[in-house]
Amino acid sequence: MNLAVMGMQFGDEGKGKIVDYLAERFDIIARYCGGSNAGHTVVWHGKKFKLHLVPSGVLRGKIGVLGNGMVIDLEVLKKELEELKDEGIEPRIVISSRAHVVTPLHREMDALEDKIRNIGTTKRGIGPTYETKVKRIGIRIIDLFNREELKKKLRLISRFWNMDVRDDEIERVSRMLHSLAMEFRNSVEDVEIWLQKAISSGKSVLFEGAQGAMLDVDFGTYPFVTSSNTNSLGIFSGLGLPPKLLDKVMGVSKAYTTRVGEGPFPTELKGKMAEELREKGHEYGATTGRPRRVGWLDLPILRYATLLNGIEEVALTKVDVLQGLKEIPVAVKYRCGNEIKEYPPPLLNKCEPIYEYLDGWDSLEDEAFKRYLEFIEKNVGVKIRIVSYGAEREETLEL
Ligand code: GDP
Ligand code: IMO
Ligand code: MG
Repeated sequence: MNLAVMGMQFGDEGKGKIVDYLAERFDIIARYCGGSNAGHTVVWHGKKFKLHLVPSGVLRGKIGVLGNGMVIDLEVLKKELEELKDEGIEPRIVISSRAHVVTPLHREMDALEDKIRNIGTTKRGIGPTYETKVKRIGIRIIDLFNREELKKKLRLISRFWNMDVRDDEIERVSRMLHSLAMEFRNSVEDVEIWLQKAISSGKSVLFEGAQGAMLDVDFGTYPFVTSSNTNSLGIFSGLGLPPKLLDKVMGVSKAYTTRVGEGPFPTELKGKMAEELREKGHEYGATTGRPRRVGWLDLPILRYATLLNGIEEVALTKVDVLQGLKEIPVAVKYRCGNEIKEYPPPLLNKCEPIYEYLDGWDSLEDEAFKRYLEFIEKNVGVKIRIVSYGAEREETLEL
């Protein structure tokens, strides 16, 4: 059985924790989109692991795959693996020969571009690396092994972007990337073939989503999105798999909503309530440390994520953060001009949430908590299978 675990909101839903929790049941954990813009946190006996490129399941001793749909910064990957090694974890990872590579030029371009268009990107070079891929001037992992060709490619990017990078800088960057590639050479595979062979021989795969449904470049709050298909449709192009190999999709949602960076957020809270939730939920970005914007649960967004991803089951996280509130608003629909909408439309900034108010709870045994879960299930058309009430592995209920 191959399962996908997908973010249903704006990222940071707790995918890392849920993937770590489920990983025991799978042989391989594979990422297919994004890069080090992701920050997946796993807490284990009080120790916090923040993973950006390495799939979360490696903490359980599983093989971690980085698919061709990802954009890979080998400097970050190396550092991440060194930090894991310091903790006694030396995972087996497999990197796609076809994945595109983030270079210092891409990171620089990300910072320059975002000063002009202000999406609030993570400045990890993600957008520019997908850009050079689609422009057909990108650098793939496999291209790092030929240093003369690599220099030509770096010069080409520099020309396209009018960057005027000096020769000694091209020399330095190509040397650095080439030597990193040499360090990783035993991990590089044609993943589309490697993975299908593994599946044919009976291995099971957990696909680890990054970002979330509303950050998908096609279906998110464009232009305030990331540059890849974060939704389940991205799995197939991002790993070279046919759709029939995906058996089931689990969505991950917080019991409320958060967002980092700019863009529409209908249920966003301001003022004291926002601060309370942010502090109680430690809502600061795992990658950039920025305070996350916070708001109430938005069911049109969950409905849309369910529709786009084919979600059947949901893991609801951070229910502990809402505990103790008297009343909890939940957005059930939107009013957009004089229309009522059940799903987020392409111009989400024109919409106001319509709330229903649910009773709060003081313990997970309370009837009011059960009603909160049932309300979500009924309104979204999913089953809540997992409830997470703390960052630790053990703070998880399976229903
Ligand atoms: P991801 O990007 O989806 O993996 O999520 P992040 O790791 O960026 O953000 C989720 C944060 O919430 C992390 O700090 C987790 O340790 C934490 N977390 C996950 N589940 C729970 C939970 O049920 N309760 C609380 N209080 N924290 C949680
Ligand atoms: P995980 O996997 C939350 C947001 C950025 C910015 C927008 C575009 O941890 O859930 P980018 O650097 O991708 O070009 O930035 O997307 N963003 C995320 N927000 N969680 C993430 O990943 C994110 N990855 C990107 O904040 O608004
Ligand atoms: Mg995160």
